[in-house]
Amino acid sequence: MVSRVIPVAPFDLVIFGGTGDLARRKILPGLFARFSSGQMPEEARIIGAARSDLDDAGYRKMIGGALKEFTPEACKDAELVTAFLNRLHYVKVDATGTEGWDKLKSLVRPDAINAFYFSVAPSLFGALAERLHLNEIANAHARIVVEKPFGRDLESARALNATLAEHFAEHQIYRIDHYLGKETVQNLMAVRFANVLFEPLWNAQYIDHVQITVAETVGVGGRGAYYDKSGAMRDMVQNHLMQLLCLIAMEPPSQFESDSVRDEKLKVIRALQPVSDEEIVRGQYQPSGNQAGYVEESGNPDSLTESFIALKVHVSNWRWADTPFYLRTGKMLKARASEIAVVFKETPHAIFGQKSADHPNILRIRLQPNEGMTLGVTIKEPGPGGMRLMDVPLDMAFADTLKGEEDVPDAYERLIMDVIRGDQTLFMRGDEVEAAWKWTDPIIEGWTKRADRPKPYDIGSTGPEDAAVLMYREGRRWRDIQP
Ligand code: BG6
Repeated sequence: MVSRVIPVAPFDLVIFGGTGDLARRKILPGLFARFSSGQMPEEARIIGAARSDLDDAGYRKMIGGALKEFTPEACKDAELVTAFLNRLHYVKVDATGTEGWDKLKSLVRPDAINAFYFSVAPSLFGALAERLHLNEIANAHARIVVEKPFGRDLESARALNATLAEHFAEHQIYRIDHYLGKETVQNLMAVRFANVLFEPLWNAQYIDHVQITVAETVGVGGRGAYYDKSGAMRDMVQNHLMQLLCLIAMEPPSQFESDSVRDEKLKVIRALQPVSDEEIVRGQYQPSGNQAGYVEESGNPDSLTESFIALKVHVSNWRWADTPFYLRTGKMLKARASEIAVVFKETPHAIFGQKSADHPNILRIRLQPNEGMTLGVTIKEPGPGGMRLMDVPLDMAFADTLKGEEDVPDAYERLIMDVIRGDQTLFMRGDEVEAAWKWTDPIIEGWTKRADRPKPYDIGSTGPEDAAVLMYREGRRWRDIQP
């Protein structure tokens, strides 16, 4: 098929933390994929910057190893790998001192697009932003990219925003939430706003409730020290799940443009009601056989941090009055499966004598794995014996439907190219992040003050029993967690 890859303009991308885990695992493999697809222009340069004592050759070797480790399939063409690695440079930089900044300045071309990826601890954001300016490295159109966690509460997020704002304007700041770079997440907007079919039904009159599940089979592994201070609420809900909720709940933006989209998302976050204690279930996975439990993995025997959370959320506006959103996410669950299920109401009158409530239409949007969408439709069970109803899926698995199309780019690939193109639509604006913390903070403060203990759950389960109760007591139930 005809390639739809449109090359971006020449750029210099500096990755602070260029030897770190994220750079090796996601950022550089992502850039390599874009290079392989022909999207990266000849003149593009990638400059790793970190504390390690390396030169260009040493850095190229390190990244060559990372590409082999994390994207072995993509490395089959050795010439292509070498051509990519030749674009890499390395500068040893002291983020809080003076070393390396002159060299960096000599490498970053003022007439190219300048992008600076802060893949470092947030405590260094201020120092980096300041030095980029003091050393006159960033040009007027430079972009900076920052990773989550963007703060750990409203106060720290405000402080981070203020620090960055001292040196960069909002239109230069790209706050990454990699969930927004996922193919299906963007497809969600296409389905809602490029079809006439769904929008008339997309409200409390026709939708009973929405379930958003992000289930993982991994534990906290080596990230215990970070995770134990965060928990599922800060690590996943405040950002990823909330972004998904926004895309489902927001009003149609007037155009697919960064501020129009982000204005609408912000309105949703601001319309979120406080969540009461009864509407929250937190859990912690228990040891099983030779598998460590959360407490062992986090290294904190007294930990009250949740590795699972389920909550019922209300968006208090005209469109969603009385239609709850149930959110759940957790580690070490029975399957890696993330989906949004929009559960429609029953028909107003059941003419078939069988409760149509048993057969609600459900639109399932599968984020991963097996990306796609399914619309459950009720039909007559074939054969004699009267009118019995059954559900069949109108299924669209992207892998089948889009066979032969260009490979779906990983979230990071797409987002980094958006930075180069100067498109902020899929990035969080400062006010959005602050609004999200404003809603999250009292929830966390509530259980912290009460010293609530998370409910135990088994590794490989669907989470604590109480999460099911959250639904049952309202005559609803979670969809099974399955890929
Ligand atoms: C990260 C969280 O932001 O997202 C991790 O910090 C989590 O704890 C990860 O595992 C999940 O991302 P994905 O793309 O694998 O669903």
